[in-house]
Amino acid sequence: METTTQKTIKKETKTGKTYKVVFLPMNVEATVNEGESILDAAENCGVDLPHNCGGVCACSTCHVIVKEGMDRLTPRHEEEEDRLDMAENLTLSSRLGCQAKVFGDVVVELPECTRRE
Ligand code: FES
Repeated sequence: METTTQKTIKKETKTGKTYKVVFLPMNVEATVNEGESILDAAENCGVDLPHNCGGVCACSTCHVIVKEGMDRLTPRHEEEEDRLDMAENLTLSSRLGCQAKVFGDVVVELPECTRRE
């Protein structure tokens, strides 16, 4: 059941598989097609996730912390690991939103350095 603070934007997919991405601390929910990125999810639901390089793994401004569902995202690759090393507030659950593709429901948090309020 959705709360009044949650916003859901649903898209049809070719396969019909969609998953939920919840963004904290604002508690906004997006529904994405299988294989879309966390950055895609943010754009779908109006969450202002910075992406200075345009989503090509050349910055670390799209840093998010995965609270639930790390195993439902594509694994980190070496280039993402290198970029994450430059991110502020790095944690073991950190991902780059543009590189993490969604294959199940996930919950992510924007670290303070990523939030633009
Ligand atoms: S937007 Fe630059 S690394 Fe994700």
